[in-house]
Amino acid sequence: MWLGSSSCSLIVRPYEQRTTSTMKLMTICFLSLAIGVGHSAAQEDTEDEIIKFKDFKKRHKKTYNGALERVHFRRWKRRKAIIDQHNENQRNSFILGDNAFADLSEEEWETYLLGVTIPKGFINNEAVVDVLAAGNVTNRQTTTPSLDLRTDPCMPPVKIQSPCGGCWAFIATTAVEYQTCATSNRTKIPLILSEQQMIDCSGSYGTKGCNGGFYTQAWDYIMAVGGQASNATYPYRAVAGTCNFTKDVTPVAGKLSRYASLAKNETAILLAMQRGPVAISVATNSRFTLYRSGIFDDDTCKNGTINHGLLLVGYGTTNGTDYWIVRNSWGTSWGMNGYIFMKRNVNICRLAEFAFLATI
Ligand SMILES: *[C@@H]1O[C@H](CO)[C@@H](O)[C@H](O)[C@H]1NC(C)=O
Ligand SMILES: *[C@@H]1O[C@H](CO)[C@@H](O)[C@H](O)[C@H]1NC(C)=O
Ligand SMILES: *[C@@H]1O[C@H](CO)[C@@H](O)[C@H](O)[C@H]1NC(C)=O
Ligand SMILES: *[C@@H]1O[C@H](CO)[C@@H](O)[C@H](O)[C@H]1NC(C)=O
Ligand SMILES: *[C@@H]1O[C@H](CO)[C@@H](O)[C@H](O)[C@H]1NC(C)=O
Ligand SMILES: *[C@@H]1O[C@H](CO)[C@@H](O)[C@H](O)[C@H]1NC(C)=O
Ligand SMILES: *[C@@H]1O[C@H](CO)[C@@H](O)[C@H](O)[C@H]1NC(C)=O
Repeated sequence: MWLGSSSCSLIVRPYEQRTTSTMKLMTICFLSLAIGVGHSAAQEDTEDEIIKFKDFKKRHKKTYNGALERVHFRRWKRRKAIIDQHNENQRNSFILGDNAFADLSEEEWETYLLGVTIPKGFINNEAVVDVLAAGNVTNRQTTTPSLDLRTDPCMPPVKIQSPCGGCWAFIATTAVEYQTCATSNRTKIPLILSEQQMIDCSGSYGTKGCNGGFYTQAWDYIMAVGGQASNATYPYRAVAGTCNFTKDVTPVAGKLSRYASLAKNETAILLAMQRGPVAISVATNSRFTLYRSGIFDDDTCKNGTINHGLLLVGYGTTNGTDYWIVRNSWGTSWGMNGYIFMKRNVNICRLAEFAFLATI
């Protein structure tokens, strides 16, 4: 059974936007799934599956007791079938894997892993689009054919947002970490700033803690209060709490002075990247969540609801295919050490639609 070929690929939506009809659709979806796999589910679990599930649990340090074991096994088994079928197809440019999320429900994916909510009425007005507004890039318009900030000393280690729908805070924070470090002559290394501060304190700018937000709202907050504390001062807890940042009292470790909206044009985005990582929003799907390696090229997400934020940290071309190097906030065990390559110049999963560059 091929999840992506039906509406069951389930483009997860922020809770706020989930309507009754969506819920109904989901129910129908799950029902048809259950019917679809009915005959195979009735088949006995093979010894091979049982061994592989044991290995899966061991790899991801998971333990379940009683009925839960069965629930997670069934989910994993369904996903594993999708993964194996995908990986057997030589024409696919990327590989899937049974990562730590492979036995979670779609609902858990949504609440633990995502968290971009485009503000109501937000229009990415191309009239404001001006790469130069974020700094002088004219002297670097000869862009390099490839760029990889993953190994830049200013790029912090990949982080883990889970279990919190706070991807927006992670993207916003890494942009500040990178820019603060890069403008300090790379003396502030490693700079690890506080996502928790954004999650707890930026509510009046439109964010909703672990229930979603948008990176520009977090930057608005940082610019208003004058900076961001370090993670050591204000540690990550993966749950929203009371704001414990006091202007002029809490030590500030990172700053930001402006950000610019970028044209929905991957050439413009590439140009902007000469000045640092670019924040983007995407519509994810199950193949994105189960991605392991290769160049992600999938058109089932192209009309999906935008629900996740990522950071562009590089680009390149391999065997004639242009790709972006994209940083996620799902830990290093996801994808390629926490990163994904996504096909470039095809607006994959809508990634060009809400691109922003923040600078100092
Ligand atoms: C941008 O750089 C160019 C070339 O170095 C220079 O002529 C121009 O004055 C700069 N513009 C600003 C706004 O700094
Ligand atoms: C960075 O280094 C350059 C050259 O060594 C120096 O001119 C500049 O003042 C330094 N900037 C900062 C912010 O330390
Ligand atoms: C941030 O702080 C939390 C809590 O102390 C810690 O678990 C986490 O590893 C820190 N993040 C980084 C990237 O160091
Ligand atoms: C608030 O932050 C300060 C450090 O800036 C810390 O000493 C204090 O324990 C924190 N309070 C709470 C309730 O987390
Ligand atoms: C994207 O921007 C580039 C450079 O500014 C321009 O040449 C190109 O026509 C634009 N593409 C689209 C589809 O607008
Ligand atoms: C996506 O949307 C476009 C424009 O609205 C439409 O032409 C296209 O058929 C849609 N594609 C899919 C796969 O739904
Ligand atoms: C590029 O193509 C060659 C030859 O077909 C293949 O061996 C190699 O793995 C490809 N590289 C990537 C990154 O896909």
